[in-house]
This record gives sequence, C-alpha cells and structure tokens, in this order.
Amino acid sequence: MSNNENLVWHEGTVSRKRREAINRHRGLTIWFTGLSGSGKSTISVALEERLTNMGCRTYRLDGDNVRTGLNRDLSFTPEDRIENIRRIGEVAKLFRDAGVINLTAFISPYRRDREMARALSSENDFVEVFVDAPLDVCEQRDPKGLYKKARAGSIPNFTGISAPYEPPEHPEVHLHTADKDVNGCVDQLVEYLITQGYLE
Ligand code: PPS
Repeated sequence: MSNNENLVWHEGTVSRKRREAINRHRGLTIWFTGLSGSGKSTISVALEERLTNMGCRTYRLDGDNVRTGLNRDLSFTPEDRIENIRRIGEVAKLFRDAGVINLTAFISPYRRDREMARALSSENDFVEVFVDAPLDVCEQRDPKGLYKKARAGSIPNFTGISAPYEPPEHPEVHLHTADKDVNGCVDQLVEYLITQGYLE
C-alpha cells in the first residue's frame, strides 16, 4: 500500500456533467457477474453493439482481455481475484467520470468485492447484472474446455469446481441464460435501462 499523505487531488475544469451532456447519456457501469460459461462476455458484446447503434458511448472490459494487459500480474487465488476486482472497480469509476457506459464482464465471485466496486459509485450509476446459468449447464457448454481441465485437476481454484461463487442477492437485473437467448437478454437489459431512465 503506498503512502499517499503527500498527494494532492488536482481538479480539472471539465466536469462529468459536461462530458455527459456531450454524450447525451449518463456515465454508467453495467457490472456482469456469473460463472465461467454463463454468458457474460457474449451478452456484454451484444449489449455494447445494441447501445452503440443507439448512439451511446460505451466501453467493454472483459476478464480474459484485461488479464492479458492491466492485470497480467494476477492469478486466480482469492487475494488476486480481490485485487483484480478492486482495479476494475477503479477503472469503471474513471469511465463513469468520462461519461461512458462501461460494461464489465468478470466472474467477480465474491459478494464483498462487487459491493466494494459498487461503493465507488454514486448517483445510482451502477447496475449489477447476474448472468445466471446452473453450473451443469455452464459445464456442458464449456466453450473454452476449461471445466474439463478443471475436473481433470489441471486448473487449480476454478470457479464452481474448486473455488466458490457467491451469487448476488439483489442484482438490478437477473438474466436466466439457460432459458433466454442472447437477443432476449439484451432486450431485457435495454428495457431495464430505459424504464430506469438511463436511456431515452
Ligand atoms: S475473477 O474471478 O473475476 O477474478 O475472474 P476474471 O477476471 O473474470 O477471469 C475469468 C476468466 O479467466 C479464465 N480462467 C479462470 N476462470 C475461473 N477460475 C480459474 N481458475 C480460471 N483460470 C482461467 C476463464 O477464461 C474466465 O473467463 P470466463 O469468460 O468467465 O469463462
């Protein structure tokens, strides 16, 4: 932990409100959480496509992608997952300040860490989306062959197999991806964003 007693916040002249006025929507984090293979990445890509077509400014942060860059030093131990989510929470905050709708697709298995990311937000600008599919469905999908490897014991700390996943208790949006296709999930999300006044 760095000592920050000699740091002074440097205020700019362009406010978040002015950036949002140009973007014509508020800065917002749409935080997807769910097991590997539940559909987080697929749905966030499709939602980003839909929002962009509606004229929104968006940016998507995805577990696999961020872990090859910003978070390449982190593993899947509980401590490193906490740090992973802490950093993403901070990056999401910067995107909100930029007036951007950012979509984060991380397993984010611990309730406490998701709450930590939410606690950095204000003004109702954090939407938690539970991408919910039963473990056996995710394991059957196994798009990257990771469950198979985890069952064979070659991936330690694999979420759902040898590491925990704590489902959200009160997510803003609950998607049942075993029963609804990608388009249906995007429809549900867009309807939520419109009825809550995030989008026109
Ligand atoms: S976390 O728990 O939020 O820190 O994980 P995240 O940053 O989202 O990274 C999850 C992706 O990493 C791959 N992977 C693993 N996932 C879970 N457990 C273990 N041990 C693991 N090792 C590698 C996997 O591709 C995850 O992507 P998704 O899209 O969830 O399948």
